[in-house]
Amino acid sequence: PQVTFSDDNSRVTAVLPTGESLEVLLYGATVISWKDGAGDEKLWLSDAAKLDGTKAVRGGIPLVFPVFGTAPDHVQTSKLPQHGFARTSRWEFLGKSTSESESAGGAKAATSSSSSSSSAAAAAAAADQSVKLDFGLSSANLDDKTRALWPFAFSLIYGVTLNRDSLTTSLVVTNDDDKPFDCQVLLHTYLRVKDISSVSITGLDGASYVDKVDGAKTKTQSSGAVQITGETDRVYTPAAVPSAPVGVVEGGRAAFSVTRDSLGDVVVWNPWADKAAAMADFAPADGFRRMVCVEAGSVADFQTLEPGDAFEGAQTIAIGSRAAAA
Ligand code: BG6
Repeated sequence: PQVTFSDDNSRVTAVLPTGESLEVLLYGATVISWKDGAGDEKLWLSDAAKLDGTKAVRGGIPLVFPVFGTAPDHVQTSKLPQHGFARTSRWEFLGKSTSESESAGGAKAATSSSSSSSSAAAAAAAADQSVKLDFGLSSANLDDKTRALWPFAFSLIYGVTLNRDSLTTSLVVTNDDDKPFDCQVLLHTYLRVKDISSVSITGLDGASYVDKVDGAKTKTQSSGAVQITGETDRVYTPAAVPSAPVGVVEGGRAAFSVTRDSLGDVVVWNPWADKAAAMADFAPADGFRRMVCVEAGSVADFQTLEPGDAFEGAQTIAIGSRAAAA
């Protein structure tokens, strides 16, 4: 059994032999679907999301770069639209690779490139397979208008890896310019839940946060698990490194666990009824009850990348029992 792919020049899909699947739009390199082996969707995507490249996708995993929200006081990024241009740019599909690991030990048995996957696949019917899709965006891909808003030479490589029980997304930002630039990055993941009233978010106990809903500039110290009972828009900066995974617990059972690599901040967002109603691309109206955004990023401050330097940040979202163990 092999991983199956399709690429129609606007979206790339991959399905593992065990049934897990992934769909990524080239527009924004937006992951719009991630299903487990039983075919259950793990991400929330609005029924009214635009998937035709006319608007950033409402749902899935939009990529925020090089600015989070808007930053009117930050000279370099002040002209950019909300959340920057990565989520509204057309990315290149750079290629795919598959690998196999023993189900029992989890050890990697073989890695094969896209051109030579058949022999490796035949070897291990019992082995778990995973697939990695790579996407790229650089200043050369941008239209003139966008490039004028943020005139730096850069390249982004975005890797999306589907394993049987997890999804890893990693972003590498490289400064190809001869001057430094400032940037923020965020993986704006819309997780699908069954009922927001039975959800709590763990792993943020004691973290300080800025609450964007009340506009407060001061930091608050969180305490205990986070429950979502109304509009929520918070930027958490957990203190410890390495900090605990962020857990999404539903009805007492672990639904997801988000582990972060070099992404120090966590945004928790739910628009709730009124804000959802104000968004033309948010449907159904009560969809906010079936989603919560848990967004791993580097957004509390800007990072400065010197010429030639690179920054890499990643998240792994694990489902099911692995989440319970975390
Ligand atoms: C979150 C922000 O990350 O994204 C919110 O914290 C924002 O303030 C939300 O409303 C959605 O943004 P957008 O541009 O996709 O509507």
